[in-house]
Amino acid sequence: GAPVEVDISSLQPGELKTVEWRGKPVWILKRTPEMVESLAKDEAELADPKSERTPDDLTPEYARNRNRSIKPEILVAVGICSHLGCSPSQKFTPGAQPSLPDNWGGGFLCPCHGSTFDLAGRVFKNKPAPDNLQVPRHMYLGDTKLVIG
Ligand code: FES
Repeated sequence: GAPVEVDISSLQPGELKTVEWRGKPVWILKRTPEMVESLAKDEAELADPKSERTPDDLTPEYARNRNRSIKPEILVAVGICSHLGCSPSQKFTPGAQPSLPDNWGGGFLCPCHGSTFDLAGRVFKNKPAPDNLQVPRHMYLGDTKLVIG
């Protein structure tokens, strides 16, 4: 499939935009400073906090960091659960739901079997999903033009 160009200049802090790439939903989330900070929480509850064990096609080298991104505030991730392919939903509010982990700083919850992911798409331990969400290959052309693929 061809790369997809996205203008993210109008994306507001805390806003998530979904674009289609190779028939898959790709999320572009502009994290607020608080959201970025939430990623520095205790990582002991995450299965693969530094994306060390995920294959290259799930996490390109430039996303093998805590934020799983090139720019700390912008997350680019495929919105498909690594378990059986359901689409996780946004759960950004701490304390929103009893099934969410204690130190929930916001993230994504898969409605099918309850896998939870943080705001970098990192999967929590002891969940059916084996891997973090995929970060597709992407790059920036200038400040606000993103190319996915
Ligand atoms: Fe997401 Fe099973 S498909 S937890």
